Amino acid sequence: MSRGQYPNTRMRRNRMQAFSRRLVAENRLSSDDLIWPLFVIEGKDQTEAIDAMPGVSRHSIDRLLEQAHQAVELGIPAIAIFPSIDASLKDPSGSLAQDGDNLVCRAVRAVKSAYPELGIVCDVALDPFTDHGHDGVMQADEILNDETVEILCEQAIHQANAGCDIIAPSDMMDGRVAAIRAALDDAGHHNVQIMAYAAKYASSFYGPFRDAVKAGASLGKFGKATYQMDPANSDEAMHEIALDLAEGADLVIIKPGLPYLDVLARAKSEFGVPCVAYQVSGEYAMQCAAFANGWLDRERTILETMMAFRRAGADAVLTYFAPDIAKLLHQQR
Ligand code: PBG
Repeated sequence: MSRGQYPNTRMRRNRMQAFSRRLVAENRLSSDDLIWPLFVIEGKDQTEAIDAMPGVSRHSIDRLLEQAHQAVELGIPAIAIFPSIDASLKDPSGSLAQDGDNLVCRAVRAVKSAYPELGIVCDVALDPFTDHGHDGVMQADEILNDETVEILCEQAIHQANAGCDIIAPSDMMDGRVAAIRAALDDAGHHNVQIMAYAAKYASSFYGPFRDAVKAGASLGKFGKATYQMDPANSDEAMHEIALDLAEGADLVIIKPGLPYLDVLARAKSEFGVPCVAYQVSGEYAMQCAAFANGWLDRERTILETMMAFRRAGADAVLTYFAPDIAKLLHQQR
């Protein structure tokens, strides 16, 4: 194909009129590509604001149902439910994770019975339940891999029993996807999907989330660097993704989002599987801070960011802006 040269080639011709810009647009946004993360707490009629995440709150289950209703109304296909557990219920091994009647399981049951067609995603990881805030059980300074994986399998089965559609291991232990797949199948949950946090980095951008779920304020000297990935690496992310796919992952998450678009683009082009970007709490907080100062235009920035994920290859995006995006897209119709 000859690309010609100026003045024969004028790139701006296609951009001159709105109809033409529409014709040549390579990507389009849809509320079909959104997963909305929501935080749940105990109690009734409770809504607590989260300081570093303006507009995002923790909701008691009855209020969570109102959010789920909104998701359905806005055409958002799925929500992800994250529990914020009372400190008095946490222990070193996160034993509450293995209780089929814990907060997250009760929340899943309530949402599933009210809105059976709304997809529900649950994290599999111990951090909301451990008193140290790590994603696994510890021995001295080590996060134990195999012992943790066994507990994660139990956690996944309880969540699937409660009605969770997509199990999302976010712990970054080795071998957990295969183990969870086998455990789910043994328990009769062969249709429950696994969306693996395959390339999850040890990132500073999770700060506001840890505040939201009240976990991980003091993780020790190395933080989560012995299990989450080094931001320096992207070949390693491809290795992680290959392993999770081989172990049976149905979808893979790349996390955080915008700072790791290169990893997302590589993942999509190298594997051609469903890739999900997680626009994490710190990315949300950063943008909200700029909006509050009048430094960035809220609507345009939110949509442009979503477009960046789509362009880079994301099939879906976990984002706290999900309802805003869905509303904006409905208005544009
Ligand atoms: C738990 C988990 C985290 C996030 C999702 N699941 C925090 C962490 O790994 O420390 C972060 C989400 C966000 O920042 O929005 N394993």
